[in-house]
Amino acid sequence: MHATLPKPASFSAPGPLRGQAAVPGDKSISHRALMLSALAVGESRVEGLLTGEDVLATADAMRAMGAQIERGDDDIWRIHGVGVGGLLQPEVALDMGNSGTSTRLLMGLVASHAITATFTGDASLSKRPMNRVIEPLALMGADITASPGGRLPLMLRGLSPAVPIEYRLPVASAQVKSAVLLAGLNTPGVTRVIEPIATRDHSERMLRGFGAELSVEQDADGARIISIRGEAELRPQHIVVPGDPSSAAFPVVAALLVPGSEVTVTNVGLNPTRAALFDVLRMMGGDISFTNQREVGGEPVADIVVRHSALKGIETPVETVAAMVDEYPILFVAAALAEGRTVARGLEELRVKESDRIAVMAEGLRAIGAQVEELEDGLIIDGTGGDPLPGGAMIAARLDHRIAMSFAVAGLVAKAPVTIDDMSPVATSFPTFTALMTSLGAEVA
Ligand code: S3P
Repeated sequence: MHATLPKPASFSAPGPLRGQAAVPGDKSISHRALMLSALAVGESRVEGLLTGEDVLATADAMRAMGAQIERGDDDIWRIHGVGVGGLLQPEVALDMGNSGTSTRLLMGLVASHAITATFTGDASLSKRPMNRVIEPLALMGADITASPGGRLPLMLRGLSPAVPIEYRLPVASAQVKSAVLLAGLNTPGVTRVIEPIATRDHSERMLRGFGAELSVEQDADGARIISIRGEAELRPQHIVVPGDPSSAAFPVVAALLVPGSEVTVTNVGLNPTRAALFDVLRMMGGDISFTNQREVGGEPVADIVVRHSALKGIETPVETVAAMVDEYPILFVAAALAEGRTVARGLEELRVKESDRIAVMAEGLRAIGAQVEELEDGLIIDGTGGDPLPGGAMIAARLDHRIAMSFAVAGLVAKAPVTIDDMSPVATSFPTFTALMTSLGAEVA
């Protein structure tokens, strides 16, 4: 979906990073706000929506299935929904671009409607595994024909009424959990998801906020049991989307690494199922504090104040992998500048993100002179103790926004330029990244 011409760029920091900046709206919450608003009868309003390409793909798909979605001049999005059960047959294939969240959550929605939808995506998305959603949705009655290996393009014929299931997640995935819960919205009876490892809970919070009957219990082993009663009626809402902690991660790590920096990132969502990176950075010695703590749209929010710090390598906790799953690429950059060894394991899911983030980070970090050993499920990194990395390499972003942004930050602490071959994927989640980094003092060539 992004521009076809690659946009190469090199980032550097001539001096300390200083100032205050706000990151755009949370991507996960933005997708869910559009989807649920599109299923509520009446007008919902959404403020602070991320206007990244991934979220726009969700908006286009919901429009293709009957919702009215408009962005006002005041930047407030107004959505008139079709009602649960009211999605219309889309007349064209749904182009999901680079967005795994759009694809998997929308597959869930379509699965319990009597419509057929074709899902297509870019080269990165077309490599990603969809069997993890195909399996539970087929149990609910959807008929899915996927490309070899359970990939896009795929065609999904929904069933209404669908069959309620109880499903234990075989992988820790908020997208799979959400797909089943969203399918359950229009399924008679109770649909249940058992989640042995907690993943981001925005779907649960927002489904409740829209008036769905949803309960969360814990079993004896600590697994979360999430039950939703179907054929729900959703009431339109006014949603304020907090800033995305996954985007805040980049200026936060940049300020930790560039000597003399002091930066405030405002309005950052700190839902505990998302914010573990900041705890891990503090364990490494990062000077990070939260001010102005408050609640926005049912989510905890704060401003993050961060100062340059001498970081120490650590063994990253395995219990919180899901709560920082998108933040490992930038954590690896922090580890490459820390003193001593960082061991990060339990990360097999990173291999099936927008790129194979274990392999791509290992290769790129080595190319700019970091000491890295690749494991099947993670990386071992021996840091420089704060000395700049040699740099002087071209990094392939491989249609992965977080790879591009991670190496842009690495460029701030490298002696020779680090060039990212294509920054355009950044528009999927953080369209203002380059402007924000330059406003803090970074230089882009
Ligand atoms: C997301 C869940 C995560 C995350 C992705 C967004 C979501 O994926 O990596 O960026 O909004 O539910 P998985 O569910 O595959 O872990």
